[in-house]
Amino acid sequence: MEAEVAVDSVSKRFGDTVAVDGISFEVYRGEIFTLLGPSGCGKTTTLRIIAGLEKPDTGRVYIGGRDVTDLPPQKRDVCLVFQEYAVFPHMNVFENIAFGLKVRRIPSNDLRKRVVEVAETLGLTDYLNSRAGRVGLSEQQKIALARCMVVEPRVLLLDEPLTLVDAKTRERMRRELREIQRRIGITMLYVTHDQLEALMLSDRIAVMNRGRLVQIGTPIEIYDNPQSLFVAQFIGSPTMNFIEGVLKKYGGKLFLERDDFKMPLDAIAKYYDLEQLVDREVVIGFRPEDSSIDAKGALEGSIELIEVVGDKLALHIKVLKDVVVKVYTSIYEDVAAGSKVRISLNPGKVHVFDKTSGRKPLPIGGEHGIP
Ligand SMILES: Nc1ncnc2c1ncn2[C@@H]1O[C@H](COP(=O)(O)OP(=O)(O)OP(=O)(O)O)[C@@H](O)[C@H]1O
Ligand SMILES: [Mg+2]
Repeated sequence: MEAEVAVDSVSKRFGDTVAVDGISFEVYRGEIFTLLGPSGCGKTTTLRIIAGLEKPDTGRVYIGGRDVTDLPPQKRDVCLVFQEYAVFPHMNVFENIAFGLKVRRIPSNDLRKRVVEVAETLGLTDYLNSRAGRVGLSEQQKIALARCMVVEPRVLLLDEPLTLVDAKTRERMRRELREIQRRIGITMLYVTHDQLEALMLSDRIAVMNRGRLVQIGTPIEIYDNPQSLFVAQFIGSPTMNFIEGVLKKYGGKLFLERDDFKMPLDAIAKYYDLEQLVDREVVIGFRPEDSSIDAKGALEGSIELIEVVGDKLALHIKVLKDVVVKVYTSIYEDVAAGSKVRISLNPGKVHVFDKTSGRKPLPIGGEHGIP
C-alpha cells in the first residue's frame, strides 16, 4: 500500500522533556490513521512536525513519497485542523472557507465553485452567509474542516477536533466525519486521547505513550490483542479486569497465586508460552464480555453489585479482598447480590502480562489472534 505520510525515527525534545522519542509509522492513502494516547504523550508535537510547524531533532518526514523535512508548512501539501478551531468570527462562513483559496489567488469563479462544493459536502450550505462567530460549535468545527478541505491537501491532519463540542454532537460528528472521509477518499491523520473515538473512527490506530509508539493496528487488533499492559489498561470501556499475582508451577501445572488465592492457568497456557514467567509477578487481564458465570469456573467470588446495561447484566464480583471484576451475563440469569458464584474465562481471550516490563509472553503457534 502506498504511504501518503511516512515518519522515520523522529525525535523531539523541549529542554529536558522528550516529547517524541524515535517514532516511525506510515499512513496509507485514503485511510483514517489515528494517534491515540494520554495527555502529554507527544501527539500534537508529532502532528506539528508533520505539518512543518516544528522541526524534529532527528528523523525524516515524507509526504507523498517526498522528503519534506526541510520544507516550510505551505509547501508540504497538508492542512492542519487545530484543537481550538479558530474561525474568523466577523467574516461570514463563505469568506472563512474561501480564505485559503484567496491567499493562493485562485480566480473567483473557481473559488466560488470550490467553496460551494465543500460547503455542500459538510452540510454548511445554509450557513454560507451567516457570520462565523454566530453559528453553533459543531458548524464552527466544520468551517475549520472546510477551510482545509477546500485547498485539497494530500493529507488532512486533525488535532482533537471534536473535544470542544458536547458528547452527543461529538458522536454525530464522528459518524459524519467518517462518512465524508469515505465519500471523498481523503487521507486523514487524526489525533485524540479518547480511545472510544479512536476505535469508532479509525482504519488503523497507533497507540502512543511517553513519546513512543507502543502498538499499531486496526481497532479490532488493538482491542482484542493488546501487546502490553499499558494498551490493555488504556483501551476499552468498561476497562479490562486485572488480577495480579505470581505465576507458580506445581506438579507440572501453572497457577496464578496470591496469598491464599490460587487460580489454575492450564487452559491459558495453551495460548501463551508461560514457562518463561514462572515465579515472576504477572497480571492477568480479561474483558467482561470474555467471562461468564459458570459453576465449573476457575475463579470464585461474591456478587457485590448488579447493574443493568442494555440487554445484559454487569455483575461486580469480588474475587479478592481488593479485586472486583466485572462480568457480563444474560439479563435472565438468576443472580442475587451477596451470593457466591464461579466465573469461567474464555481462555483464548485471557491476556497475561509480565508485571515489571508490561510485556506479553510469546503466543504459541501464532494463535490468540496474533496478526
Ligand atoms: N513548545 C513546547 N515547549 C516545551 N514543552 C513542550 C512544548 N510542546 C510540548 N511540550 C511538552 O512535550 C510533551 C508532549 O506534548 P504534546 O502537546 O505533544 O502532547 P499531547 O499528546 O498532544 O497531549 P494532549 O493530549 O494534552 O494534547 C509534553 O510534556 C509537553 O508539556
Ligand atoms: Mg495535544
